[in-house]
Amino acid sequence: MAAPSKKVTINGREVSIPTGLFINNEFVKARGGKTFEVEDPATAKVLLSIEEGQPEDVDIAVKAARKAFESGWAESDPAWRGSLLLRLADLLEKDQEDVIAIEVADSGKTLKQAQTIDLPGAIGTIRYYASWADKVYGRTASTAPGTFSYTLREPIGVCGQIIPWNFPLLMFIWKIAPALATGNTIVIKSAETTPLSALKMCELIKEAGFPPGTVNLVSGYGKTVGAAMANHMDIDKLAFTGSTATGRTILKAAASSNLKKVTLELGGKSPNIVFPDADLSQAVDWSVFGIDMHAGQVCHAGSRIYVHEDIYDSFLKAFTDKMAAIKVGANFSGDTDQGPQQNKLQYDRILSLIEAGKKEGATLHFGGQPLPDRDGYFIEPTIFTDATSDMKIVKEEIFGPVVVIIKFRSEEEVLALANDTRYGLAAGVHTKDYQRAIRMTKKLKAGTTWVNMFNYIHWSMPFGGYKESGIGRELGGEVLDNYTQVKTVFFNMDVPAPNSA
Ligand code: NAI
Ligand code: MG
Repeated sequence: MAAPSKKVTINGREVSIPTGLFINNEFVKARGGKTFEVEDPATAKVLLSIEEGQPEDVDIAVKAARKAFESGWAESDPAWRGSLLLRLADLLEKDQEDVIAIEVADSGKTLKQAQTIDLPGAIGTIRYYASWADKVYGRTASTAPGTFSYTLREPIGVCGQIIPWNFPLLMFIWKIAPALATGNTIVIKSAETTPLSALKMCELIKEAGFPPGTVNLVSGYGKTVGAAMANHMDIDKLAFTGSTATGRTILKAAASSNLKKVTLELGGKSPNIVFPDADLSQAVDWSVFGIDMHAGQVCHAGSRIYVHEDIYDSFLKAFTDKMAAIKVGANFSGDTDQGPQQNKLQYDRILSLIEAGKKEGATLHFGGQPLPDRDGYFIEPTIFTDATSDMKIVKEEIFGPVVVIIKFRSEEEVLALANDTRYGLAAGVHTKDYQRAIRMTKKLKAGTTWVNMFNYIHWSMPFGGYKESGIGRELGGEVLDNYTQVKTVFFNMDVPAPNSA
């Protein structure tokens, strides 16, 4: 049964949002007859209710994706797939005001960030993979004389994709664009607290002309829809972004079901190291951006800042001044730097980690309080000093605007401190000494390293984790390895069988 779109007024703009699950290019009601509420984290008020998928809906979506894969998409002209992606990028560009309004209200991110980071990132990523579609090559090899051998890079099949709530639009695009370019079909699940931009994108996917069943979206919860996907016997590959704990659960589910190929992009506790020869004011700016982008709800956030003793006092003073100047508030107003935390659970988790920091004996140097007189989930930018490696606030991902600043004396010491973590997503170094920069980036155990910047990502460069921060890479040409499988073809010209007379 068809599910209607609803009109919602967001920041004075009336937008139409589909409410159904998206299966076979139709927005449909969920089988279980349930809906769930979607909240605006800036006001804690309900925006609208949408259909809530169940495992049964996952089965229906997988069947649709399988049929689309087998009935032409997998073997379609790659240039055509590229042209559909280009059309999708154009439609997103045309409807950007609606998509941005939906994304800002649903996720709590600032208008400024949605306009300058999320939207251009989404459009750029789609166009990048559109142009990859007809450039995925196999290779030929010099095997024995009389034989000719080559490889084909074929799509994997039905790809399950599970995304988090911090970058709902961008993660949707990071996942679908490379999978579609390479001829896979998709069953995707948005996060239960941020399902709206994915619904809007499905409307555009249909308009762009993708065949029915190519992309299917089942909104819903992790324990039901997500678990059904991870355990599904007919999903060939699963790509996940979210917490390390859930990543572990998914890997186990894959192992005990059909050994679907799993890639994971998980948490982090990224070190950000400032040497005395760095440009201090630039280092401060990037370090504040490193922890405060999207109120700290960024997997590669620079949440552990290590500052050399020679500049510790001056860095701390300038950094604190800059954190104090951050404008926290209504995310739709153009000059707001930091909006609310994305959801109540995350808000509570951050506040409890701040409490843990105080209890374990770190110094709360700045902030640490929720914003008074607000219904939404706002927390002040927060700085801890005098923290040690055994404390929760130094070890655990806080995923909020909370940073620890730690003093160091030597390069050797700071390397050991920086790498003393189970995570390995990203790391940054601020220095003007290029030899030190090269030495440090080589020795830091992280999938992304920055020199004199932080939190910079580009679709043309791979992104992913060392250690418990993940398996596989997103973006760049590298992600295409996760969405293709290699077939070897041995071709005999005139070689007799080894057992011929
Ligand atoms: P989560 O990892 O549980 O949620 C991410 C996605 O996984 C959501 O779509 C959720 O519905 C789904 N999911 C949850 N349980 C599942 C299961 N058993 N099987 C399949 N899918 C499942 O993250 P959560 O609970 O929202 O946040 C907890 C912490 O995770 C945060 O405090 C933060 O530290 C970290 N996190 C990291 C992210 C990243 O970008 N690496 C993004 C979101 C959270
Ligand atoms: Mg969870």
